[in-house]
Amino acid sequence: GKVGVLFGGRSAEREVSIMSGSGVLEALRGQGIDAHPFDPGQRSLGELEAEKFDRVFIALHGRLGEDGTLQGALELLGIPYTGSGVMASSVGMDKITTKVLWQKAGLPTPDYALLDGQSDLPAVAAQLGLPLIVKPPHEGSSIGITKVNAVDEFQAAYDVAAKLDDEVLAESFVTGREFTVAVLGTGAAARALPVVEIVAPEGKYDYQNKYFTDDVQYFCPPQLDEAVQAEMGRIAVEAYRTLGCEGWARVDVLLRTSDNRPFLLEVNTSPGMTTHSLVPMAARAVGLSYEELCVEILRTARL
Ligand code: DAL
Ligand code: MG
Repeated sequence: GKVGVLFGGRSAEREVSIMSGSGVLEALRGQGIDAHPFDPGQRSLGELEAEKFDRVFIALHGRLGEDGTLQGALELLGIPYTGSGVMASSVGMDKITTKVLWQKAGLPTPDYALLDGQSDLPAVAAQLGLPLIVKPPHEGSSIGITKVNAVDEFQAAYDVAAKLDDEVLAESFVTGREFTVAVLGTGAAARALPVVEIVAPEGKYDYQNKYFTDDVQYFCPPQLDEAVQAEMGRIAVEAYRTLGCEGWARVDVLLRTSDNRPFLLEVNTSPGMTTHSLVPMAARAVGLSYEELCVEILRTARL
């Protein structure tokens, strides 16, 4: 049947989505699938309905694409789609609600505080310790994230995040190594792919380094005790199930150097599929090509 590849969109990650979606479109076509691009950032839901897609591959990132809103529209239109449903998409886009649910399930995630214009920043810095991380809780690709090394940097970091979001999240910094775990499948069938370690220059795995430089090194598998890798895979799958994720997602994890303890940062329910992206890298490590991965994800599309 006719497949729509949804990419572009209206979020701050539009540019990333275009890279992801172009790759997915080409891969599906290469596998003989009748795939067509559709940009919900430029065309209406009426036009989406008129396309009469049998199912769609969501390659959108961020708001109005990854956050449950589009998923709700597709439910109403009766078009099967890849990835998580309305609730998990919406929760996954909110780093605060994600942490609340993980904590409730006994899963490790860094300590945090919610900030507003009235917050006593020196008190928050004392509570969480320095350095700390300031994030807009509803963005992706590291947009608006600042590492605060000294109290006098906190206000500027808050202002950057507050421009992008109604709420601002401050999180304890975990000194350690950075990993990500791709999860494929739904419910009891959900399984982790091999973990990927990210080694960025000066620890700066930011927007530029994520997509536009070749300065970041990736290791899959990493040089790390196999039991620790297995533990990261296990908690990533538990984190995914706790939020009710479906189809596929990518869970970002930090491993604290002092005790090799993993901390969950967030889940990406519509992960990047660019040439620099990590789910394709993890899939390759188990012999699944980018094209095969796209077909496998498409196969999970449902309402
Ligand atoms: N938010 C980006 C696309 C990712 O997590 O891969
Ligand atoms: Mg993200």
